[in-house]
Amino acid sequence: MVTAKKFVLVKHFEGEPKPDDLQIETEELPAIQDGEFLVEAEYLSVDPYMRPYSARFPVGITMIGSQVAKIIESKNQHFPVGSRIVGYLGWRSHTVVNLKNFQGSGVADAPPMLLPDMGNLSPSLGLGVLGMPGQTAYFGFLEICKPKAGETLVVTGAAGAVGSHVGQIGKIAGLKVIGIAGSDDKCQWITKELGFDHAINYKTQNVGVELKKLAPNGIDCYFDNVGGEISSTILYQMNTFGRVSVCGSISSYNADSSAYPKATVIQPAAVFGQLKIEGFLVTRWADRFLEGSVKNLQWIKEGKLKYRETITNGFENMFKAFAGMLKGENIGKAVVKA
Ligand SMILES: NC(=O)c1ccc[n+]([C@@H]2O[C@H](COP(=O)([O-])OP(=O)(O)OC[C@H]3O[C@@H](n4cnc5c(N)ncnc54)[C@H](OP(=O)(O)O)[C@@H]3O)[C@@H](O)[C@H]2O)c1
Repeated sequence: MVTAKKFVLVKHFEGEPKPDDLQIETEELPAIQDGEFLVEAEYLSVDPYMRPYSARFPVGITMIGSQVAKIIESKNQHFPVGSRIVGYLGWRSHTVVNLKNFQGSGVADAPPMLLPDMGNLSPSLGLGVLGMPGQTAYFGFLEICKPKAGETLVVTGAAGAVGSHVGQIGKIAGLKVIGIAGSDDKCQWITKELGFDHAINYKTQNVGVELKKLAPNGIDCYFDNVGGEISSTILYQMNTFGRVSVCGSISSYNADSSAYPKATVIQPAAVFGQLKIEGFLVTRWADRFLEGSVKNLQWIKEGKLKYRETITNGFENMFKAFAGMLKGENIGKAVVKA
């Protein structure tokens, strides 16, 4: 008999998530049946979407999320003991997986899949640069911004999992890249190590003023991870026929939906600049994820795509890692090692 630990949502988040919004519980797992397998979480992801998406579910659910897990017992020949899967199993230490009646943890109900062989790379990358955030950067930027060499790209959330990746694809594509992030350390990392041309610390610098200096000829592509006033400011500095990929709006995730932060109206910028502003969910390109994985892996091997992880140790520290990520404590992908 295996005892699983899981985080249960006992109170919907209001404002910043609080430790007692979640509760650790234990659960005795049944013996596996034919076709099933038992996994043990190795790495668990903490992502911004968990904050707004969790409000869609009733209290009492296991907290939503994805993990890389090792198969420790199996009655399914396609999922042998010792191999790893990646999937939306929620914040749990052990799970019995039955692919026939699999119910995901709500975000993506796609069943878990075997983690491809990544050679010497850490399996945790299946949650980051070689997983969902990596696909988000690859498709969300290339398909919506349609970048051309010589253009100027601005990316917000620039030192995070998605943003740090987008900026590097921008450099690979021959663009001038300006990243906006929340600390000097983050700005140093993206310029000195990742090759961004410039960085702006939005907490200590005036984004509008700095952009006028750094992009005097205007901005062609904007990859928007944060929304709010920073995004309104950027839209007013875009060139005619600029393209905006709206990936997320983390600046509002802790706000009550009845009281979102006010930001400057954007329609004049959109109309007079004839901008294309398009939101997306990465699942739009699910049938092309193999292409994204292959390309991202190739760029890593070629040394063109660097990554960083902020790893928190211990399953019981999931909440700490989650709350820290929302506050900007992570550089690169925030992950928990169980
Ligand atoms: N559309 C999709 O399919 C899709 C898929 C994945 C992710 N996303 C979105 O992509 C964005 C980035 O996700 P990620 O996984 O890469 O997370 P991340 O950037 O690694 O982590 C979140 C970062 O957001 C920044 N942040 C927090 N509050 C902020 C605020 N008020 N203003 C500006 N920045 C703030 C923090 O960095 P600073 O120190 O710089 O503030 C923090 O490190 C999120 O909006 C997420 O929801 C969308």
